[in-house]
Amino acid sequence: MVSTLLKALLAVVIGLGALLLATSAALWPATSRDAAGLDPAGLAFWTALCLVAAGFPVHTPRGSMVNVSFAPIIAVAALGGPTAAGIVALIGTIELRELRFEVPWYGSLYNHAATVIPAVAAGITFQLLAPGSFQTGSLMSLVAVSASGCVYFAANEVLTAIAIALRDAKLFRVLLVGSIKAFGVSLLGLAPVAWLMAEAYRSIGPLSVLVFALPLYTTRTAYASVVEIRDMFTQTVTALASAIDARDPSTKRHSEWVSRIAEDIGRVLGLGEGQLEELKWGGLLHDVGKIGIPDAVLLKAGSLDKEERERMNEHPRKGHDILKGVKKLAPELPIILHHHEWFNGSGYPDRLVGEEIPFLARILHLADAFEAMTRPRPYRLIPLTTAQALAELHAFTGIQFDPRVVAAFEKTEWAKGAVRIDRDEDPADEVSIPMLGQVAALRAKGVTANSSPAEAH
Ligand SMILES: [Fe+2]
Ligand SMILES: [Fe+2]
Repeated sequence: MVSTLLKALLAVVIGLGALLLATSAALWPATSRDAAGLDPAGLAFWTALCLVAAGFPVHTPRGSMVNVSFAPIIAVAALGGPTAAGIVALIGTIELRELRFEVPWYGSLYNHAATVIPAVAAGITFQLLAPGSFQTGSLMSLVAVSASGCVYFAANEVLTAIAIALRDAKLFRVLLVGSIKAFGVSLLGLAPVAWLMAEAYRSIGPLSVLVFALPLYTTRTAYASVVEIRDMFTQTVTALASAIDARDPSTKRHSEWVSRIAEDIGRVLGLGEGQLEELKWGGLLHDVGKIGIPDAVLLKAGSLDKEERERMNEHPRKGHDILKGVKKLAPELPIILHHHEWFNGSGYPDRLVGEEIPFLARILHLADAFEAMTRPRPYRLIPLTTAQALAELHAFTGIQFDPRVVAAFEKTEWAKGAVRIDRDEDPADEVSIPMLGQVAALRAKGVTANSSPAEAH
């Protein structure tokens, strides 16, 4: 279902795109038969080139797509003006999946409006900086093409990020910054290529432009590699997390849920893309040290004796030591090491107090506890309801949990009960665990990490 806000946005952007293109057509004719602009054959040539460039998009993890149509569109903005750029952006970005009706019509229209508006704006920018026809060998043309590229990139990214933020209920700022960081430099790096394409077209002729197919192809390959490596990393980490959780049937998918809850708390707190990613990886890997805990302790149905408890409490440090050789995971190490520290200093392994505990570890600690409380465990067969778990969090605010993190958690969908941790498991995987624990809360100050019902084991 498309939300009302999203529908309104679609209508406004599509309407704006149509209006802008119509106004531009009245001011700057799309084609011109003199050397100043593009003739109809030229317009067709650039449209065909754009179709090829846009025909092989790379799917990004954020739900958008990136392609190299940037270069031909900016070249046309310089050679043919705003209307020609708008037309090439409108027709030249048609994709096969649209012709196969795999994209809803309103999605298609929005996507095209989100390229037409930036393309016309890029053409206007060029005209403002270098009025009239494209001058070959002029430094001003290069400056104007670069500025047009920036305008196109910014407008396109903003329109794409707004739509994804509304569609997927994600933070606009996080999406925009993430996209700019991932693709900004390489896309803007295509601006000089666009200028060279325009130069070659005007000085030598259309066929010479085809030489630039190679740099465009390598840029597209680079995008694909970035996405592929990231996907591979995500899948490997997720598989590792599943392997850890699978050792104990009562913690199946525990790390995945913890990661999701922690990320949502981070979003409420307005954390940036980088920190959200640290919470994601940290959540998935926080219990990796349990690999080193013997089955006799990890899978023990009854309560642990002192020695067994000490073995179990080694898992944050073991996890830290296992992963410290992975350079890419260096920011997650403090989260993994300190995810069992308590706000009052009675946690482990280092008994850090309050602000001494890394902030992201405090977030992960709450996510870990909430997941543990609302899922069956050997020590508490009947899970707590969301309301009961919230009561525990409140009771231990300032003792076990950072008050700021509790306040943020209360604003998430998890706390409202809108998202449930479904077991989503095969009935065959269910195990009967004798109920050995109890739900009674220890609210007195001074309780330790080994005695709280809100402590994840
Ligand atoms: Fe843990
Ligand atoms: Fe955990």
